[in-house]
Amino acid sequence: MAEVYQARVAGVVAAQLHIATAMAITHNLRWVIYLSAASCIWAADARNGAMVLEQQGCQQCHAVRGQGLGHEPPQVARDLGERLAPTYGPHTLASALWNHTPEMWTQFSAQGVRPPAATETDWQDLFAYFYALQFSEPVGEVGRGKQVLETKRCTDCHSLTNASTGRAPSVQDWAHADDPVVLVYQLWNHASSMKNTFKQNKIEWKTLTGRDLMDLTAYVQTVQRLAPTGEFSLPAPETGKPLFDANCGLCHRDSMSLAMKLRNKNWMDIGADIWNHSQKMPTVRMVSPDDMRKLLAYVWQLQYDGPPGSRVLGQKAFVDKGCAGCHQGPINKGKPITAFSIVAAAWGPARQAHHRMLTQGVPWPNLSPADVANLVAYLNSPGPR
Ligand code: HEC
Ligand code: HEC
Ligand code: HEC
Ligand code: HEC
Repeated sequence: MAEVYQARVAGVVAAQLHIATAMAITHNLRWVIYLSAASCIWAADARNGAMVLEQQGCQQCHAVRGQGLGHEPPQVARDLGERLAPTYGPHTLASALWNHTPEMWTQFSAQGVRPPAATETDWQDLFAYFYALQFSEPVGEVGRGKQVLETKRCTDCHSLTNASTGRAPSVQDWAHADDPVVLVYQLWNHASSMKNTFKQNKIEWKTLTGRDLMDLTAYVQTVQRLAPTGEFSLPAPETGKPLFDANCGLCHRDSMSLAMKLRNKNWMDIGADIWNHSQKMPTVRMVSPDDMRKLLAYVWQLQYDGPPGSRVLGQKAFVDKGCAGCHQGPINKGKPITAFSIVAAAWGPARQAHHRMLTQGVPWPNLSPADVANLVAYLNSPGPR
């Protein structure tokens, strides 16, 4: 994948975490998106997505989390802040949009609205925005964070006040939890010694969820009297690959590949997964907080991209779906084709060519997420044949 694409995906993470922190302050989503853009260059892409939505007039028919014209009855189309597909990724979203093209087109004619002609990049940003909406965490709840420590019996060893239990540092003395990744990192780095302490004290390993980690962070921040910094720098996902290969690649390959297994997880979910099975790992190598960020960014992106498509099945779909009626073969003219190119085929500069299918009475071919992935693989194969 092109570098730009990766940066954009990373931007989604940035936006996601910014939304989480900033939501506490404003509760106003739009404001939050602008906020994030000010402090992080990558987040500008999800922010651009919010602007594309406005410029293209999507909200004439769709609400976004209950906001916009579309929520006044009669609502002709669903809320775009809702989960649009069971799994979120470029292919599933491209498929959803492509398959609704005829209905949407009809609505446009009925309402006399100019159909959108957003570029591939714009669609990419729009999806970054939708994605960020899906995974903006509910802000951590302080009270629930305290409950987690008690119900998971962390308090058997860690006291919540200054008075130490003698077994482990009190929460007050934990490393400063400026952002949730610090906690993931601390848990990872202390997993080996905690594993032993758990054993000695005959305490079972306690699993955590991503939500638990968010709430814990909120609680720890309160105890430590730390205001969330709201600053969050993000590494490019590919910088996490060597770390992944060294720490996780041994087990997570082939049928255990995380690209195949993971769906719809956010950073903290992945962080919790790491903690949950760290006691089963033969070695838990120490990493730095920056390394942990890289690792999370890498794993998170694996699931966003999803499994790669098949070129052979793509060629078949190309014929079956009627693309071959107009296209000779792979369309890649030097620039890689992505799921967003397929969306742009229906809703970008090339849309008129494709809407000819509708006006000429050719049934609009439905594309499943797998079809999109396969077509992308095929369309990227070298040169027309
Ligand atoms: C003129 C009205 C109208 C406008 C404007 C419009 N849409 Fe739609 N959209 C529809 C209709 C109708 C459907 C199909 C019915 C449904 O699923 O809600 C739809 C469906 C969709 C879907 C698929 C939802 C699903 O269920 O999977 C997506 C995604 C979508 N639109 C995105 C957009 C975006 C992004 C824009 C702006 C670029 C936009 N729409 C502008 C009318 C519109
Ligand atoms: C059986 C005792 C025990 C229990 C129960 C326990 N811990 Fe620990 N924990 C330790 C010890 C010992 C250390 C210090 C390890 C070291 O120094 O490497 C530690 C360290 C930590 C640290 C790093 C603190 C720092 O310095 O920043 C965190 C975070 C942490 N534990 C969280 C938890 C959470 C969350 C739970 C509950 C799910 C939990 N612990 C349950 C014994 C325990
Ligand atoms: C010793 C082998 C091993 C190592 C090393 C390992 N894992 Fe795992 N991982 C597993 C197994 C087995 C599972 C299945 C869940 C379980 O623990 O029961 C799993 C599950 C997961 C899951 C949840 C998958 C799901 O289906 O929801 C994530 C995320 C994950 N691992 C990430 C990592 C990361 C990141 C690393 C490196 C820091 C890592 N794992 C290292 C064996 C390993
Ligand atoms: C009715 C004829 C027709 C059919 C059928 C058709 N296309 Fe196209 N397509 C075109 C034309 C013409 C262009 C070039 C439009 C332009 O450059 O303005 C194009 C451009 C594209 C592009 C943009 C390429 C670029 O320059 O980035 C993609 C992607 C694409 N088509 C994919 C598909 C897929 C996938 C199918 C099958 C589901 C398909 N097309 C079916 C006529 C068609």
